[in-house]
Amino acid sequence: MSDSSFNPVPLIRKKRDSQSLSDTEIERLIRAYTDDQIPDYQMSAFLMASFLNGLSDAEAAALTRAMLYSGIVLDLRDIPGTKVDKHSTGGVGDKLSLILAPIVASCGVPVPMISGRGLGHTGGTLDKLESIPGFTVDITLERYREILEAEQMVLAGQTEDIAPADKRLYALRDVTATVESIPLIAGSIMSKKLAEGIDALVLDVKFGSGAFMKKKEDAVRLAETLVGIGEEFGKETIAYLTNMEQPLGYAVGNWLEVKESIEGLQGDGPADVMEISHLLAGTMIHLGKQAATIEEGIEKSRRAVSDGSAFRKWVDIVRAHGGDTRVIEAPDRYNYAEFRQPVRSPKSGYITAMDAFAMGMVSLELGAGRRSKEAAVDPAAGFILRKKVGDYVEQDETFAVLHTNNDSMLKPCGEAMINAISISAEKPEASGTVALRVDRSGIHEQFAQ
Ligand code: URA
Repeated sequence: MSDSSFNPVPLIRKKRDSQSLSDTEIERLIRAYTDDQIPDYQMSAFLMASFLNGLSDAEAAALTRAMLYSGIVLDLRDIPGTKVDKHSTGGVGDKLSLILAPIVASCGVPVPMISGRGLGHTGGTLDKLESIPGFTVDITLERYREILEAEQMVLAGQTEDIAPADKRLYALRDVTATVESIPLIAGSIMSKKLAEGIDALVLDVKFGSGAFMKKKEDAVRLAETLVGIGEEFGKETIAYLTNMEQPLGYAVGNWLEVKESIEGLQGDGPADVMEISHLLAGTMIHLGKQAATIEEGIEKSRRAVSDGSAFRKWVDIVRAHGGDTRVIEAPDRYNYAEFRQPVRSPKSGYITAMDAFAMGMVSLELGAGRRSKEAAVDPAAGFILRKKVGDYVEQDETFAVLHTNNDSMLKPCGEAMINAISISAEKPEASGTVALRVDRSGIHEQFAQ
């Protein structure tokens, strides 16, 4: 119901003065904005006041609720099983959804997954899926249910009906420098996830140079806020903090990441990718009531890869979404980028750091990401690392290979890759892939992996 008499100024003033808003005030504000009753400039003022002065946990929950109910909330109760999804806060080379969703589905847990596109330097699951010829993520809600019921898993994009308030607010935040706010990010993520009709959720909250949260302590606060909101809505929610100081795995770019995820599903994935995939998948299998503990879930996850059932599930899913399964079964047949160029190390030594943000930007510039919302992505663009942090590299040895169909980007991107690595005579200490777990009982530094 629209509310043309609504005046947002007192609410903006309250937030400007660091006072708390009630659930009703937040609900009215979001509804008025979604119904075009208040203009962008007033909402922008509210967003900036919230960014600067913060929102309490109760306000963040009210914001999530208002955005969630601005659209439809899927009811999947008639589909058997405990439905569990996973969400990542975004990173470079993050292809985990493509590996863990078929693992979890093949273990009997339904995974209804609504994903996003690449954002800034980070890749998006939808762009990766669309690099598979024929694969469509634009499906009706009816088809969404059908695929989920038949295959225990479905992969789709956010429709106009799912959390429309978030869609508008996100676009406004993007152009008003108000994205990096913990309660605003948490509300945005959780409104979309709760609309999917899930029963439980696993979150991969990334920290480091390639993540939106650069500092670990901010990532902990984001994880706590996300878990708090999930539990408030009656969904068991477990978050892991994972390291995004260097790209995940070796492949960055849409098709290149699909190919690496196929290797992972066939038991030949990079160690860091497989460690997090099994941890997140094992947790989902546990939350989906197919394992008594997370440890048992991890065991089942490993078995689903080694006995081939996860890969078979992936082939079925690709077929259900209209994708060409021949390229999944024989990925080397796929058309690669026209130009491939090695990037050589300027000196000998150990790689002590990689600037994952800069490398994410290289991938974008090579064509794998978007400079504007409307731009098309090049499915074949990106790069493959040959070395990672801790590896020794000789002077002039190739540490990465760029892939692109736009040869004008090869030179600047090669230089940017060289600038993105640090080399020293001393071997750096290994830093862990998974830092800690946050669940309703608190923060855990020691847990099964
Ligand atoms: N991802 C989202 O969905 N929303 C945010 O605000 C940030 C990342």
